[in-house]
Amino acid sequence: MSTVTSRIDDQAGQPVAVITINNPPVNAMSLAVRLELRDAVQAATADAQVVAMVLIGAGDKFIPGADIREFGQPPTGAQPPISGRDVIAAIEASTKPVVAALGGNALGGGLEIALGCHFRVARADCKLGLPEVNLGLLPGAGGTQRLPRLVGPARALELITSGKHFSAQQALADGVVDALVDPESPGGQYAEGQLLASALAFARRAVAEGQPLARVSQRNQRLAEATPALFTEFLAKHARKWRGLMAPQHIVRCIEAACLLPFDEAYAIELAAFNVCKASAQRGALIHLFNAEREVARIPGLSADLRPQRIRSAAVVGAGTMGGGIAMCFANAGIPVWLLDATPEALARGRALIEKNYATSVARGSLSQDQVDRALSLIAGTLAYGAIADTDIVIEAAFEDLAVKQGIFRQLDAVMKPGAVLATNTSTLNIDKIAEATTRPGSVVGAHFFSPANVMKLLEVVRTDGTAPQTLVTTMALAKQINKVAVLSGNADGFIGNRILAVYGRECDFLLEEGATPWQVDRALQGFGFPMGLYLMRDMSGLDVGWRIRQYREQFRDKRLRYSPIADRLCEQGRFGQKTGRGYYLYQGRDATPDPEVETLIAGVAAELKITRRAVSDDEIVTRVLSAMANEGLKIVGEGIALRAGDIDVAYVHGYGFPRHQGGPMYWAAQRGWPALLDTVQTYHASQGPLWAPAPRLLELARG
Ligand code: 3HC
Repeated sequence: MSTVTSRIDDQAGQPVAVITINNPPVNAMSLAVRLELRDAVQAATADAQVVAMVLIGAGDKFIPGADIREFGQPPTGAQPPISGRDVIAAIEASTKPVVAALGGNALGGGLEIALGCHFRVARADCKLGLPEVNLGLLPGAGGTQRLPRLVGPARALELITSGKHFSAQQALADGVVDALVDPESPGGQYAEGQLLASALAFARRAVAEGQPLARVSQRNQRLAEATPALFTEFLAKHARKWRGLMAPQHIVRCIEAACLLPFDEAYAIELAAFNVCKASAQRGALIHLFNAEREVARIPGLSADLRPQRIRSAAVVGAGTMGGGIAMCFANAGIPVWLLDATPEALARGRALIEKNYATSVARGSLSQDQVDRALSLIAGTLAYGAIADTDIVIEAAFEDLAVKQGIFRQLDAVMKPGAVLATNTSTLNIDKIAEATTRPGSVVGAHFFSPANVMKLLEVVRTDGTAPQTLVTTMALAKQINKVAVLSGNADGFIGNRILAVYGRECDFLLEEGATPWQVDRALQGFGFPMGLYLMRDMSGLDVGWRIRQYREQFRDKRLRYSPIADRLCEQGRFGQKTGRGYYLYQGRDATPDPEVETLIAGVAAELKITRRAVSDDEIVTRVLSAMANEGLKIVGEGIALRAGDIDVAYVHGYGFPRHQGGPMYWAAQRGWPALLDTVQTYHASQGPLWAPAPRLLELARG
């Protein structure tokens, strides 16, 4: 089956070749597409009767980039290795105008093809962009060379290093497209063939008017806007954000080359940089996440006919920090939301906190005052359960106490309309026990948000044995509606994320006893790519919360297992972290400095436990912590709590600041190799005991 078809549109005696790309599901530019597209362009160029060409995607959907599945695969050898550059060379060699008709997504290599054309017309709803940086790549078919020629080097730096999509209207304003095609009907519907008709008319006009063929590669005027400082300043401004990342730095250098060198020389530099990125481990990790982020939404075993219920209204019970943050998520997505609490004072406090958070967003420029006003108008407070009865979903975010939550669910059960989703934000309680308080356990599900709820992207959706499939798919789909990434978890202690976090924290604490310092552990983790080390993070969120939970759980703790009392000792001294000015570090405002007293405290604990402290290397810290996380992750998968290892990676990247370019703890371990992980786990098992028992799944994987 061909992926590219060609036909002649012969209206008005001006034959135009219509070249249509059709490679479902998204029209990615696979090797076959590249080959057939180049051949079609060359054939139309050679066809004496053809006066112009239009490139269009089937169903108006243009190309969203190279076929990601081809990266990391060995060349097939079956076909000649045609690149996007070869297609563009064929277009640029044509003596007839080539018009790109853009709709759907014109991204990555797709936009590069369009930039290689002489003209571009776009549907007003088309999304454009060069998002390669998100995959650890750079646009390798001239994107870093042609885009600055149209939008200027400063804007090209922003667009290509951020990888952000931009609208067709923006593209028109920036000179990336030459004309917009607005929908024919006032309802915003495009008539079939409307984009093509506009592109054909554009092409014929260009021929009739004898318009010069505007090759972007030859339009150099805007490159002169680059000042010598532009690139060094841009790199310096983003140095912190791009620490350890390859692709953005290469992109800056390629755009700089575009401004300083003749096209052909800079084009060669772009290709070399693209190949370096393509061969990098970061590209592998980021494409792994791209795939895992799509896979995570799939729940095996559910009927394909099941359709999520669209959430049109919501309620949150509990107007505390978490509840307020959750209400903001709904309001930001345009969904009206009730905030319910027991007293007017609690509601007023909740509302004030929400307003303060929004004011910060406006001050930072992440939201406009208009957006905030709209969001605030969607949040209403109430003391009455009756007021929320008709909403599609309610999320309980009350105090972590089973009796309190059961009381709330009893009331919800009494008032909520049939079919409403009853979700709890608990992070520590058994959701089955909460569901028991209702007569409809099928409607009960966990919706575990991460703090701050309006910022963190992860939503753990927790299913109990009783959760109905309809409740599950609706809650998973809700995540997308409110701009979150849902990861499905079984109903087990800590779910996925916090169970692994416990292991992560445990090993860091043991490393302190064995000889490391909090600042060394943090430095090693930050060196690996975490934006913040464990101890800075604990100090920021406050040490007292975990302390209270540990005190409650002390009665259930298995006393035979190793336990580090360092965190408890700090709390006993009133060191609760940033909020008390002292935790693992000393604080001046938010600035942390190492505290020798903490080192003394740690040495004292080690002496009590008869541990001889030793030098610990940064490498050991990273390997030990990540190996423990991956081993626990495999236990979680083996127990059926996570569906897939990739789900754990998605959870860690979106909920715990795991560096994206490392792919997640499971990907990290898989890259090192399962035998290497088993070796590390067995070594620690021998020295540390049962906490390091290898996951049964690891034994299988390491055996191969
Ligand atoms: N190659 C191969 N498959 C792709 C693909 C691509 N470029 N883009 C999407 N797909 C697949 C997805 O994996 C998914 O497959 P699945 O159904 O088996 O899970 C399916 O298409 C649908 O994708 P989404 O679920 O993401 O659909 P959406 O409608 O939500 O989004 C999209 C569509 C905006 C195109 C989004 O998929 C996307 O952002 N794709 C990647 C775009 C990109 O990064 N392009 C640059 C590629 S690199 C490049 O072009 C190099 C060049 O410079 C040389």
